[in-house]
Amino acid sequence: MKSMGAGSAVQAEPKEALRVGVVGAGVMGSNHARVLAGLPGVHLVGVADPLPAHRKRATDLTDCRTFAGLDELIAEGVQAVTIAAPTHLHHEIALAAIARKIHVLVEKPIASTVEEGREIVSAAERAGVTLMVGHVERFNPAVAAIKQAISGEDILSIGITRVGPFPPRMSNVGVVIDLAVHDIDLIRWFTESDIVEVQPQLSSAVAEREDIALLQFRTASGVLAHINTNWLTPFKARSVTVATRGKYVMGDLLTRQVTECFGFKPDGSYSMRHLPVGHDEPLRAELIAFLDAVRTGNVPAVSGDEGVASLEIAIRCLEQPAKPAASAARKGPRRIVG
Ligand SMILES: NC(=O)c1ccc[n+]([C@@H]2O[C@H](COP(=O)([O-])OP(=O)(O)OC[C@H]3O[C@@H](n4cnc5c(N)ncnc54)[C@H](O)[C@@H]3O)[C@@H](O)[C@H]2O)c1
Repeated sequence: MKSMGAGSAVQAEPKEALRVGVVGAGVMGSNHARVLAGLPGVHLVGVADPLPAHRKRATDLTDCRTFAGLDELIAEGVQAVTIAAPTHLHHEIALAAIARKIHVLVEKPIASTVEEGREIVSAAERAGVTLMVGHVERFNPAVAAIKQAISGEDILSIGITRVGPFPPRMSNVGVVIDLAVHDIDLIRWFTESDIVEVQPQLSSAVAEREDIALLQFRTASGVLAHINTNWLTPFKARSVTVATRGKYVMGDLLTRQVTECFGFKPDGSYSMRHLPVGHDEPLRAELIAFLDAVRTGNVPAVSGDEGVASLEIAIRCLEQPAKPAASAARKGPRRIVG
């Protein structure tokens, strides 16, 4: 028998399919199930969700078994689970799985609070199971190409835009926890440094929570970074720019086009090239990385500590309450002249 995780008690023969379950059959969980059902070396045991309509959505997509709760899923025998239930349940579900020595991939953000996130991390350490956090953007091939282009470069600044319309179903979090946490993770990953200064500007134009956020950061390594995110843009846009001493790299995370400017000359001229970008589905690459960490016991691509660190920065950004947007703060209607 070969150990499957860091000191895990759950073991299997190397050639045996890993028995994996999904907790939560919502938008993300159904996608987890779809991807897991197609991965070699994986047996998708089933999906757990209390809502029959959501369980049906998962079976329509993957024809897998479904269960009304985590206990029923665990009773079938699972070595690993992915948790895609609402964020406020991550803590309770992750601790229950870890207590049964089950490896866990938990969707981002790791938990609702830093304390809960830390409890999940220490429980996984004590149990010797793999814990990974689903910061899926790291597995976007355009992001991977940017990371490769800036490797070994002296990074000066990073700008990230992640905007779009309101999501169809509003959860109880604003844009910082829902969207900016992706980019906080990217800034920490690109710079391989901690964020030490945070200057947030938040506004709530339509939603109760912040729906516009302009966030500025400084990392311990001295990099300046900003995130522009909102739910008030009629179309989705996701872009990253990184200025280094030797290059300027621009990436569109949706069209997956990544371009670098380099060879700056004193006369202001420079060269430009498009970089090769892969075609992998980010979620597939993320789940493969998780299962690889489970099989080898190696540190997972996005550790629990990293998930907690990004959540901590996002929560620091929220310490200043959101102000009403400009139009709400204005007294009376704007005068139209002419
Ligand atoms: N990585 C990403 O890009 C990304 C994108 C969207 C959402 N997420 C994260 O994924 C998680 C789920 O988000 P979603 O958009 O799929 O939400 P969702 O509301 O569509 O799905 C959540 C599902 O969990 C189910 N659920 C509720 N209680 C449960 C329980 N006790 N056990 C099992 N299932 C339970 C609900 O019935 C629902 O089907 C959140 O943490 C969210 O932040 C990540």
